[in-house]
Amino acid sequence: EHSLSRRNLLTLEDFSKEEIYSLLELADYLKQQRKLGKQIQPLKGKVLGLIFEKASTRTRVSFESGMYQLGGTALFLSKNDLQMGRGEPISDTAKVLSGYLDGIMIRTFSHSTVEELAKHATIPIINGLTDLYHPCQVLADLQTIREKKGTLQNLKVAYIGDGNNMAHSLLIGCAKMGMNISIATPVGYEPNQMITDKAKEIGKQQEIILTNNPYEAVKDADIIYTDVWASMGQEEEQWKREKDFQLFQVDEKLLKSGKSTTLFMHCLPAHRGEEVAANVIDGPHSIVYQQAENRLHVQKALLTAILG
Ligand code: CP
Ligand code: NVA
Repeated sequence: EHSLSRRNLLTLEDFSKEEIYSLLELADYLKQQRKLGKQIQPLKGKVLGLIFEKASTRTRVSFESGMYQLGGTALFLSKNDLQMGRGEPISDTAKVLSGYLDGIMIRTFSHSTVEELAKHATIPIINGLTDLYHPCQVLADLQTIREKKGTLQNLKVAYIGDGNNMAHSLLIGCAKMGMNISIATPVGYEPNQMITDKAKEIGKQQEIILTNNPYEAVKDADIIYTDVWASMGQEEEQWKREKDFQLFQVDEKLLKSGKSTTLFMHCLPAHRGEEVAANVIDGPHSIVYQQAENRLHVQKALLTAILG
């Protein structure tokens, strides 16, 4: 039995470095088997519920296909179609769904909703993005970086943009895996202080730097990462953010201030001409589609470990 059996994934803090490595190994194996056309179905008869309070392309489709490929089934549950959308308590939802399902993935606004669900459910809960964290994305990012660079140890990630859920999960993920991370945000958009402190605590040997200067952040970076300026739920701030983030576009000039081998990553969806220039995301340093594909493989590894 895997040490992750029946465990929750609310944030990457929930897993040890060794457990994350074991997921990355399994993800590489499942990816290779899929490329060979081999089916691996350890989850026959298992059902995963997918609760969505926000839109999704990658998370929904990779979890649904992943469950089918592993021999199980996934149920797409839009919050508006659940009684939760009409005010049924999360605790009741958790207890009732625990009787039908083998696990739940949830994408929601407040991180406390996921914690509440996990507290009352008797089945594993997977965070598919909250306002604070996006752990599944960073698992896929780690798999991708390892594929490209052969190692994670002592690499440097530079994250440019909003101190949001992606910045937070990258902070925890990099600190945990022995990587260095620099985060450049405009003044007032820094990552959450509590999460930054946690990352510094986890990554005592690591370089963890916050700055307001993107050029300082990308110096010697192996990876330059960015994300949208206005996350889901912040649509009404779009205009203000476009002004505040003007100097934070990852363009060719910024990319070239890294190393000649620096790779560009983005969790997607991307906005060309805002957080990233088209010639960067569509250029030779970009690995965004490999990164997106790996959502499937690493989440299949996660599901196999947790539900298998
Ligand atoms: N990166 C990511 O989570 O994409 P979706 O919003 O499409 O799921
Ligand atoms: N920060 C973005 C990530 C989308 C995958 C958001 O929360 O909308």
